[in-house]
Amino acid sequence: MKSLFKYFFLILIFTLIIIQFFRPEKTKQSINQHHISYKIRVPDSINKILIMSCYDCHSNQTNYPWYSHIMPFGWMIAYDIKNGRNVLNFSEWGKYNLTKQNELLGKICGMTASGKMPHWKYLIIHKKAKLSDSEKLMLCKWSLDNCMLKTKK
Ligand code: HEC
Repeated sequence: MKSLFKYFFLILIFTLIIIQFFRPEKTKQSINQHHISYKIRVPDSINKILIMSCYDCHSNQTNYPWYSHIMPFGWMIAYDIKNGRNVLNFSEWGKYNLTKQNELLGKICGMTASGKMPHWKYLIIHKKAKLSDSEKLMLCKWSLDNCMLKTKK
């Protein structure tokens, strides 16, 4: 029994070492003209919220934490970033058409007000990303104001 455990343990260690060589690609770009801040007014207070709570998954300005260098955490993080950017990428905002932009602005309010975003997994580690009620309200007001503004035009 003891040797079986040792055997299992060695395989585990071996697997952990091997998977470290399979690293997902990290992508971080500087802000360009498609970024939301060039398309609609993003006041400093809102910008602060987005950077602190959303940009790691919903922009190309991701801050990769140290443990993203350790697999399988790196894979899990890469998976969330890929999916997050796929549905909403603040750095690619200018590439969405008006209907899409308005839909997303509405969803930004809905997802944060309901507490679905920022993702709960993210909040376990990023305590500062948790939004207070007043911050949620601010974000909602900003997103809906901009949504209405554009629809009127
Ligand atoms: C840990 C990564 C992560 C963080 C941080 C995060 N999101 Fe998300 N978000 C996702 C993923 C993944 C999805 C897609 C799957 C899902 O809905 O769970 C998503 C979906 C969304 C959607 C839905 C888009 C659609 O069309 O369905 C909105 C809106 C959204 N997030 C807004 C935000 C906002 C605003 C913040 C910051 C307050 C935020 N998210 C923070 C990962 C994240």
